[in-house]
Amino acid sequence: MNVVAEALVEAIAPNTTLNAVIVLIDGRAVAVPVGSTVIAAIAHAHATVLTRTSVSGLPRGPVCGMGICQECRVTIDGRAHQLSCQTLCQPGMDVRTAASEAHR
Ligand code: FES
Repeated sequence: MNVVAEALVEAIAPNTTLNAVIVLIDGRAVAVPVGSTVIAAIAHAHATVLTRTSVSGLPRGPVCGMGICQECRVTIDGRAHQLSCQTLCQPGMDVRTAASEAHR
């Protein structure tokens, strides 16, 4: 976790309960209940659940929620193509969606 990410996590930590985990979604610290999937944290962080874009640039998002469609792929801690519907949030996890890729 970089310095900015650590500061974001520390800033939000006092506002969480013991049963929450803090993750970074496109650089934004989000507290979600322990046991939440990454896609749940993304839904909590963004008004629209956008995980990736098609070749033509159209928005794509989760379809099945059970590891079949592959539409929920995101980058987690630098590892691309991770299924956000099948991955549980871990403290300090750095998640990047197509939303952050569009702003690079
Ligand atoms: S939503 Fe279909 S694989 Fe994750």
